[in-house]
Amino acid sequence: MRIPPELLTHLRENFALDWRGIHGAPHWARVARIGERLSVETGARLDVVRLFAVFHDSCRQSDVSDPFHGALAAKLAARLHGTLFELDSLGLELLMQACSEHSAGKVSRDATLQTCWDADRLDLGRVGIVPDPRRLGTAAARRPDVIEWAYGWSLK
Ligand SMILES: [Fe+2]
Repeated sequence: MRIPPELLTHLRENFALDWRGIHGAPHWARVARIGERLSVETGARLDVVRLFAVFHDSCRQSDVSDPFHGALAAKLAARLHGTLFELDSLGLELLMQACSEHSAGKVSRDATLQTCWDADRLDLGRVGIVPDPRRLGTAAARRPDVIEWAYGWSLK
């Protein structure tokens, strides 16, 4: 699936931070692209990964500390589901969990959840952090060539 333009418009209109900032659209695009690459190996659900990319930081009110933004993103996804995007019930459940727990430093055995979180962590180069393989949960994300690819891209 591709992200419905109406959904993206809604998220942009309600985004409180700099649209081009460290938690804005360029980050969302990289998380989606990294997630797509990881999914080839992890078997993660691409529809959930792509929706995670645009939802997970969409409710941030601060680029620094913002402990509730993941839970708010999960609630927003539940609210917009059925009007601005469609997903089956398992997919929505995964999307909500991926959003609400994405900044808790967790590791999951579920390929879709972990692919979402790894894709987010692999874009840490934008804030000067080289992704630590010990904090990545999928074998695909821990590969040195993947970390190097993502890091190089996150600096652009
Ligand atoms: Fe993020």
